[in-house]
Amino acid sequence: MINIKVLKDYEEMSKVGAQVIREFIETTEAPVLGLATGSSPEGLYAELVRMHKEENLDFSNVQTVNLDEYVGLGGNHDQSYRYFMNHHLFDHVNINKEHTHVPNGMAEDLEQEAKDYDNLVQSLGVDVQLLGIGTNGHIGFNEPGEYLSAPTHVIALKQSTIDSNKKYFESEEAMPKTAITMGMQSIFSAKHIVLVAYGEKKAKVIAELADNRITTDNPATLLKLHPSVLVLCDQEAGKLLK
Ligand code: GLP
Repeated sequence: MINIKVLKDYEEMSKVGAQVIREFIETTEAPVLGLATGSSPEGLYAELVRMHKEENLDFSNVQTVNLDEYVGLGGNHDQSYRYFMNHHLFDHVNINKEHTHVPNGMAEDLEQEAKDYDNLVQSLGVDVQLLGIGTNGHIGFNEPGEYLSAPTHVIALKQSTIDSNKKYFESEEAMPKTAITMGMQSIFSAKHIVLVAYGEKKAKVIAELADNRITTDNPATLLKLHPSVLVLCDQEAGKLLK
């Protein structure tokens, strides 16, 4: 079931999202957070860092698993998702880095990496999974198409995703065209899901979360089958909601 909340702006969305994550951290004995990258959760991470610095939010018992990584980028590449997570969260809180997991996009055997990662996600058991959403409705890198994959897998990125994300790279050629991502089953194994979205570009895919239809053309619509999904968006992303 999806509960959609439209907040005033990006700042409000980030604060409310961080508060939800904080409650999981404070009320779960050994919290396991599923984390996402992208500009949508950046403000939420900044707020968690503030909570750590100013209000002693404690990450010492927290374990994390990230959704995805570009194939071919190592953790030192400034566009890798490992780098993003270190830079926006892990370097600024008291988390044990060994308890933070991001798929290895440099693995020699990517199929094996996908299997191992899926086993890790299942064995940890995610309490709350944070998601962003692509302009084409992808979650993680589960791209729209005729079918979706259940477990963690390697996927060719859609041109729509390349168009959205190439701005972060020197050129379109420099952007990886494949990624390794948790699949729909890996994502759905989380007890709770929180999705954040802002800006007009997301309005169409967010509106499709509120109707009765499920389609692999917008992978996020499958979230309607999960028992606990909270969508937090700003007014722009929420503007096509009835
Ligand atoms: C990437 C990530 C997604 C993320 C999406 C949206 O493609 N793989 O997990 O949700 O970008 O990014 P943004 O929040 O910057 O719009």
